[in-house]
Amino acid sequence: MPPRRIVIDTDPGQDDAVAILLALASPDEIEVLGITAVAGNVPLPLTARNARIVCELAGRTDVRVFAGCDAPMSRPLVTAEHVHGKTGLDGPVLPEPTMPLAPGHAVDFLIETLRTEPPGTVTLCPLGPLTNIATAFARAPDIVGRVRDIVLMGGAYFEVGNITPSAEFNIYVDPEAADLVFRSGVPLTVMPLDLTHKALTSRDRVEAFRALGTPVGRAVAEWTDFFERFDKEKYGSAGAPLHDPCVIAYLIRPELFSGRHINVVVETEGRYTTGMTVADWWRVSGRDPNAQFMRDVDAEGFFALLAERIGRL
Ligand code: RIB
Ligand code: CA
Repeated sequence: MPPRRIVIDTDPGQDDAVAILLALASPDEIEVLGITAVAGNVPLPLTARNARIVCELAGRTDVRVFAGCDAPMSRPLVTAEHVHGKTGLDGPVLPEPTMPLAPGHAVDFLIETLRTEPPGTVTLCPLGPLTNIATAFARAPDIVGRVRDIVLMGGAYFEVGNITPSAEFNIYVDPEAADLVFRSGVPLTVMPLDLTHKALTSRDRVEAFRALGTPVGRAVAEWTDFFERFDKEKYGSAGAPLHDPCVIAYLIRPELFSGRHINVVVETEGRYTTGMTVADWWRVSGRDPNAQFMRDVDAEGFFALLAERIGRL
């Protein structure tokens, strides 16, 4: 089977960083055509910087990293330094990137790539707010039908919200962008908090990264040490959810995940519920299914895959 050809759209973020490393460590299954940075966890200059730090840590300065949208389509930016720290990659001290940004805007790269690659061969993997993807779709509607599928981290239903009582961060930051993507008709696989909150770190799982004894293993362990303090405090859980790597792990070992093909819409006008993904899990709305909404993961298998692949770098 030829590797999946993907674009990773990201707002690193420690969990984004682990997702990027997992993709770069899996060349037999995944070919990364490019990485597009978007404002989210931290402002765009930092997400564009952080994506390059991760590529350099993986020894992959050949990967093209593009800077994208620095604010949501029609709202002010909301960031999450309280979770990810001031730099967005707090934890280990890593050198400033020396690899340059790829020339051009991320949205133009997305449009160009989808217009030139054969239709149905490129998977988009958004790990942050959907601003870049939605802007590309709005500017070039002809590319929508050329996307193979979208596998994204975002949303929540039974698990409710993590940035408001009803909304998950990636959707909340740019609900109009999310609404456009969820209505686009592109086949969607969604990794919501309902799923990622079952992919929790533990001392053993983090120590397995540190025990790799490599700079990458150490960085992943130290990112996770930093990142998990927020969720452990908030949810009183023993570990933290590694949200974004679930997207990449799904591409490598889909059998680790299960969910239901249902209708999911995005609330953009709720007084208290803006950014909520309204998932029709019980199929009562009569609306057509538009997303594979994932709800369960084999956590042992997921972390074993992560440790094995991170150990390759
Ligand atoms: O709500 C979790 C999501 O928001 C993850 O993608 C995390 O990186 C942040 O972007
Ligand atoms: Ca993210």
